[in-house]
This record gives sequence, C-alpha cells and structure tokens, in this order.
Amino acid sequence: MDKPTPSVTERIDTATGGLRMRRLRQADWSRRLVRETKLSTADLIWPIFVREGRGAPQAVASMPGVFRLSIEDCVAAAKRARDLQIPVIALFPYTDPSLRDANGSEALNPDNLVCRATRAIKAAVPEVGIMCDVALDPYTSHGHDGVMAGDTILNDASVEILCRQALVQAEAGCDVIGPSDMMDGRVACIRQALDAAGHRNTLIMAYSAKYASAFYGPFRDAVGSGGMLKGDKRTYQMDYGNTDEALREAAQDLAEGADMIMVKPGLPYLDILSRLAAEFGVPTFAYQTSGEYSMIMAAVQNGWLDGDKAIVETLSAYKRAGADGILSYFAPTVAAMLRG
Ligand code: PBG
Repeated sequence: MDKPTPSVTERIDTATGGLRMRRLRQADWSRRLVRETKLSTADLIWPIFVREGRGAPQAVASMPGVFRLSIEDCVAAAKRARDLQIPVIALFPYTDPSLRDANGSEALNPDNLVCRATRAIKAAVPEVGIMCDVALDPYTSHGHDGVMAGDTILNDASVEILCRQALVQAEAGCDVIGPSDMMDGRVACIRQALDAAGHRNTLIMAYSAKYASAFYGPFRDAVGSGGMLKGDKRTYQMDYGNTDEALREAAQDLAEGADMIMVKPGLPYLDILSRLAAEFGVPTFAYQTSGEYSMIMAAVQNGWLDGDKAIVETLSAYKRAGADGILSYFAPTVAAMLRG
C-alpha cells in the first residue's frame, strides 16, 4: 500500500526542523525587538552649502530641496540641527568666481566665506560640531583639489597649501577637518600642522576611500566647480575597480593620525564600507553623495518612489554595512522623521 503523501505542513516542519523564520516578523513590536541595525539621529552629519551675501536661499538646480544659504541662514540651519539633535554639520562654500585662481589662494584667507560662517555658527550654536572640507576645488579656477603644473596635479606642493587651509579653518573654530583631496601624506602633514599650532583637539575625518565617481556631479554644481573642471580627478581619486586599495588607503590614513575614516560615494560602495568597518574597528563613515541624493529626489518627484521610505531604507543600509554615521543631505528630513 502507498504511504500517504505528507501534508505541506508536515513537509515544511521536516525540512525546517520546525523553525519558522516568519514568527519574529509577525508584529511591529517583535520586528522592533530583534532589529539588528538602528538608525539614529546621532548618526547624521548634515552637509550645507554656504554662499556670500544676504537674502533668500538659492536653489541648486540638480539637487531639488537643497539650497545655498547665506551665513545668517547657515546659523539658522545650525540651530535647526541642534534642535533636531544632529551632532555635526559640514560646510561647503560657493566661492565667487572672481575669487578663484590657479592656486586656490582664497582657501587661505582667514576671512573667507567658510571661515566667517564657521565663526558665526560657533558663536551662536556652540553645541553643534562643525566639519570643513580640506581640498582646493571650491577655490581653484581649474576645479581641481590641488595645484597644477601643466596637466599634473602636484602632490607635495598641494599638501603644503592644504595644511595651511586646515589651519585657517581650525583657527576659525572648525571641529572636524575633512581632507577630501586624496593627496598622499596629507593626513600626517595636517595633523602635525594642527598640533604645532596648538590644535591638538581638532579631529580629522579622512576621506580615505574616495573614488573618482560620477556621483559628485550635483555637488560640483552646488559649489560652482563643475563647469570649471579641467579633465577629471582620476590621478588622485581612487579607481572604482579596486577594493584592496581602499584598505591600504584607510590603513595609511589611520597610521598618519586620522581619528575617523570615510568611504565615498556611499550606496554603490557598501562593499567597501563593510570591509573597512570590519577590518579596522575605528569610527567609519559613509558619504551619501549629491548624485545619490538627486537620484532619489528625481524618482520621488516623478512619483516613482516613496521618498520617506526610500530615504530611511538607504540610510539604514549604510548602518547595516557597518557605518558609524552618514553624511547626508537628507539629515534634517530623517532627523525630523525619527523624532516624529
Ligand atoms: C571636494 C568634495 C567633493 C565632494 C565632497 N568634497 C567633490 C569632488 O571631489 O569632486 C562630493 C560631495 C557630494 O557629491 O555630495 N573635493
């Protein structure tokens, strides 16, 4: 006589040993209880574009919802960051084209836009951390992060200037120096320069694994360096075919004195983030770049994506991959959502 066919339930119980993975997903309370990764407002760094003069925020065409703010409005944004409990804001200047030259000299002016914004914010909202980029691209007439001889971006001559840029920003009150220039040896030289000038407590978040990427396009519009850029940045930013190189870059930056490391861009480079976070166990950050922001916003504006859901999901993905924090133009939106 044929054995009776086991029921689906019997077959599943035999195959799974009775383990039903859906059991924990039944209710919101149980999903929350076992969630491995939690996005928190304390994970956020909010990049802000600052512009000269007074008056209304200027829209950045390729970044819907992002504006270049006057110093006054930057102070208001910093207050908003404080109220939302966003720990750090990152300032990026739109430098008037008339102030840009081949050597990026405006970067060394202690009264340049980013320094004045830093002083104003520190005076009004001392409890919010301020991060400033170290790189010459907002200041150079050729749009590169360093100085050039012919078509070559000079490493050591650039580092000399970048150290002075870091100092000028630290003097203005910047808490976190973010070298985003990708010159060799710059973290060591900046650390020494800061220490020698008594800025031992100024932090360095090194853009360690910064790839030559198409995802910076809208940012370059925002700081006005895009149209000026001669060629590309592939002789100093990393080749996106490489992973091991990112580990070497991060190890090097840490050996040179970086307090924190960063991977950039973010979402297309979660594999890199995951490896760096696992390998070094140091504070590791991801930059959700302008291009990633604009992709989401374009889809949201077309009604193709649910913005709130897509934003929280992508930021949670960075956390899951091992990020301690994320630089994101969505920071205030997310902070408000997490609070609500
Ligand atoms: C400057 C800098 C860039 C970004 C941060 N700092 C652009 C670049 O390297 O060309 C990109 C940020 C973004 O796309 O949101 N070196």
